Amino acid sequence: MSGAPAGAYVLGASASTPRSFNDKVTVGMIAVGARAQELLEGIKMVEGVEIVAICDAYKGRLERAVERSEGRAKIYDNYRKIFDDDTIDAVTIATPDHWHKQQVIEALEAGKDVYCEKPLTYTVSEGLEIAEAVKRTGKLLQIGSQGMSSDTQHKAREIIRSGRLGRVTMIRASYNRNSSSGAWLYPIPPDASPETVDWESFLGSAPKHHYDLERFFRWRCYRDYSGGIATDLFVHLCTTIHFLMDAKMPATVAARGNLYRWKESRDVPDTLNAILEYPEGFTVNLSSTFNNDYTRGQSFQVLGTEGTLEIGFRDLKFIPGKGRVNNRWIVKSWPRQLEQDYHDKIKAHAAALAAANDVRRVKESEEYKETGRNATLQHLDHFFDSVRSRKPTVQDVWAGHRAAACAHLINDSVENDRIVHWDFDKELQRL
Ligand SMILES: NC(=O)c1ccc[n+]([C@@H]2O[C@H](COP(=O)([O-])OP(=O)(O)OC[C@H]3O[C@@H](n4cnc5c(N)ncnc54)[C@H](O)[C@@H]3O)[C@@H](O)[C@H]2O)c1
Repeated sequence: MSGAPAGAYVLGASASTPRSFNDKVTVGMIAVGARAQELLEGIKMVEGVEIVAICDAYKGRLERAVERSEGRAKIYDNYRKIFDDDTIDAVTIATPDHWHKQQVIEALEAGKDVYCEKPLTYTVSEGLEIAEAVKRTGKLLQIGSQGMSSDTQHKAREIIRSGRLGRVTMIRASYNRNSSSGAWLYPIPPDASPETVDWESFLGSAPKHHYDLERFFRWRCYRDYSGGIATDLFVHLCTTIHFLMDAKMPATVAARGNLYRWKESRDVPDTLNAILEYPEGFTVNLSSTFNNDYTRGQSFQVLGTEGTLEIGFRDLKFIPGKGRVNNRWIVKSWPRQLEQDYHDKIKAHAAALAAANDVRRVKESEEYKETGRNATLQHLDHFFDSVRSRKPTVQDVWAGHRAAACAHLINDSVENDRIVHWDFDKELQRL
C-alpha cells in the first residue's frame, strides 16, 4: 500500500472527473483463477481498456494469464504492489471470498476503481465497512453478479413492472447439480506443489491451517473461506430478485442445510433450503442440492396472480394464466335447483361475452431468447462505462452487501438453528 493518508485520493481529479474515450483505462487483476480468466477474456474485448498487471497465488494461472494477455500483463508478486502502482486505474478482485473485504478496502484507499466478484463479503458486517470505504474514497465499486446486466433479466424486470404478472407474492429459485464438478471437486493441476502454490498468500486472515491443495483449489467446500451454497449460488439469485422486484432485504430468513453425501470433501452443506420474507410483500423459496439435477441446473419462477415468469440464463417464458374458476364440486352439494341455476347463470354470461365478441381466452405463452452479448461482457462494459463517466455502477456496494447479507443470514439460520431477522435500522445508522 502507498503511504498516502486514507481519503487523499478523493481530492484527486480521478475520483469524479469523466475520462476522455481516448484515454486508455489500465487494469490490474488481483487473482487470475478460473473466474478471473473469463473476466480477462471479456476485458480484452472492451475498447480502450488494457490489462497491465496480474497477481495470483498459483504460478500456473499466472502463466496462463500472461499468455491470454498476449504478453502485455506484467506479473506482480504481491497484490499490494498493484495497488501501489499509480499508473493503474482499476482492479478486478476475484480471490476466494475471505479475501474480498480486505482487498476491496485497500484498493479503494489506494485510489482504484474496483470490480469485485460476488459475494462481496464473508460476513454481514464487512458490507458496512466496505460501504464506508466507498463513501470515504469516492471511488467506484461494482460487484460481479453479472446476471442483472443481461438482456434477459432486463426484459424480466420490464414484464414484472408492467403489471402483467399481477401481484407477485412468491418467487421460487433453485440450483441443482449431481456431479463432482457441480459439487466443486475441481481437478487439482498436476504441477501444484509448494514451489508453485503460495499457501500463506491464500490463507491471509483465515484460520491457520497446514498446506493443503484441496483447500487451496476447492476452497468453496470449506467454511473458513466460503459460505458454501448460500454465498456461491444463492447470492446470484438474491441479486436478481432484488433487481427484479426493487427489493432491499428480507425481513426474516429461515433455512435448513444438511451434508448428506459429499462428507469426506467438505464442511459446508450439500443441500440447502431457505425461505426469505420481504417487507415489500412477497416470499422467496430458494433451494439447492448437489445430489440430483432433475431440473437441469437452474430454475427460477416468478409467480404472480395473473401469470408466471420462468427465467433462464438466456431465455424467458411468460405463461399467462389466472386459475380457471371451477365450483362444480362445491355446487354439486347444493339443492338441485340452486345447482342448476348456478350453471345456467354461468352459461348465460359466456353466451353474452361470445355475442359481444368478447371471448376472454387465455393468451398463448410468450418466449424470449437472448441473442446479444453475454451477461459477463455486458457487466464488464457497464463497469468500464462507469469508470469513464464516473456515473454510479450498475451493481453498487449496497446491492453487493445486501445480496451477500441474505446468504450470510441463511447460513446464520442453519448454523444457529434459528429464524433470523434483519435489522434495517442498524444499516441506516451506519450511513
Ligand atoms: N460471477 C460469476 O459467475 C462467478 C463464477 C465463478 C466464480 N466467481 C467468484 O470469483 C471468485 C474466484 O472464484 P474462482 O472460481 O475463480 O476461484 P479459483 O480458486 O479458481 O481462483 C481464485 C484464485 O485466487 C488466487 N488467490 C488466492 N489468494 C490470493 C491472494 N492473496 N493474492 C492473489 N491471488 C490469490 C488463487 O491462487 C486462485 O488462482 C470467487 O469470489 C467466486 O465466488 C464468480
